[in-house]
Amino acid sequence: MHISLLSHAMEWIAFNLAGFCNICLACDDHLANDEPDIEMNAPAKTEEFASAIPAGVYAETVLSVTHYTDRLFRFTMTRPDGFRFRSGEFAMIGLMVDGKPIFRAYSIASPAWAEELEFFSIKVPDGPLTSHLQLIKPGDQVLMRKKPTGTLVLDALTPGKRLYMFSTGTGIAPFASLIRDPETYEKFDEVILTHTTREISELKYGFDLVEEIRNDELLQEVVGDKLRHYATVTREDFEYRGRITDLISSGKLFTDLGIPPIDPALDRGMICGSSAMLKDTKELLEKAGLEEGANSKPAEFVIERAFVG
Ligand SMILES: Cc1cc2nc3c(=O)[nH]c(=O)nc-3n(C[C@H](O)[C@H](O)[C@H](O)COP(=O)(O)OP(=O)(O)OC[C@H]3O[C@@H](n4cnc5c(N)ncnc54)[C@H](O)[C@@H]3O)c2cc1C
Ligand SMILES: NC(=O)c1ccc[n+]([C@@H]2O[C@H](COP(=O)([O-])OP(=O)(O)OC[C@H]3O[C@@H](n4cnc5c(N)ncnc54)[C@H](OP(=O)(O)O)[C@@H]3O)[C@@H](O)[C@H]2O)c1
Repeated sequence: MHISLLSHAMEWIAFNLAGFCNICLACDDHLANDEPDIEMNAPAKTEEFASAIPAGVYAETVLSVTHYTDRLFRFTMTRPDGFRFRSGEFAMIGLMVDGKPIFRAYSIASPAWAEELEFFSIKVPDGPLTSHLQLIKPGDQVLMRKKPTGTLVLDALTPGKRLYMFSTGTGIAPFASLIRDPETYEKFDEVILTHTTREISELKYGFDLVEEIRNDELLQEVVGDKLRHYATVTREDFEYRGRITDLISSGKLFTDLGIPPIDPALDRGMICGSSAMLKDTKELLEKAGLEEGANSKPAEFVIERAFVG
């Protein structure tokens, strides 16, 4: 398993060095939650279903499902041959519901070199997609549109020494990808993943990820002590408490980590959370002198919504 992991990592590095990338520019189509008229009208796992899959959509097999809380789960599925993405990007994934496809944006939580695709999902009560998606089991089929995209990619940042990944809730998903990508550690000396949730139980996916990295001999060799995980909760007692914005403003984040405050000459940032969290964190980074970047114009920090609403 480790040999195959290494060979995929090497292939991916070679792929990146070749300067090739299949990303399309972020466009409204990718962010639109309602899928336009795609004609598919068959139950999963039948030949009829396979023949009904329209161009531009993969149907992949679920491999594993882990439920964390009554609101959160993680699942993996097969990766289509030839499906390329950059760590940190999102894709549109979906299910057939009552004979119609429903797609939603999902950050790909696995790194670009991985054999399988991983996702970390909310369960919205009565949510058009997730009320069904939360019921998937190994062997079921999940749809995925062919074009990944997104701004939380290393290419959108100018070079720096320390990379902050600020996440709340399921906003940790793109960083689950990036913290397992060797390129992140080639580009930065220190990687600080912050994850804030309302309750302690919602932090578990992040803790599991870091433990998986520590237990993976090859990945750990690349990551070393460069990755730091700073997990906080806002509505229960915990070692570290409070919104990340308050912890930045008060300086407690830096005291806790034993590092200096944010410096535009050295520090880079990626933010993923609710619209309010993006706005407030962005303001703090701008106040510290960092400028927002994009795929087309790399700069000191980038942002992406973890959900609409
Ligand atoms: C760029 C992008 C990337 C995304 N990546 C992920 C991801 O990796 N994992 C994930 O679970 N969701 C992600 N989402 C949200 C996802 O697209 C869906 O909204 C979510 O799966 C719920 O779908 P639904 O049809 O059940 O409910 P929807 O009708 O889509 O949502 C109903 C309401 O539920 C709340 N909600 C939706 N998603 C979340 C969430 N993730 N966390 C907290 N509240 C939420 C919002 O208030 C929303 O208005 C992403 C959204 C965007 C725009
Ligand atoms: N998490 C739950 O247990 C729960 C349960 C039922 C329903 N829901 C619903 O699900 C939706 C999303 O909930 P969520 O918990 O996944 O996401 P969320 O509301 O975005 O909260 C996630 C974390 O982000 C923090 N946060 C919120 N706004 C912020 C800001 N402007 N700056 C910095 N940090 C900020 C929250 O702190 P605060 O706690 O201080 O807000 C919380 O710790 C909400 O509509 C909610 O009502 C959540």
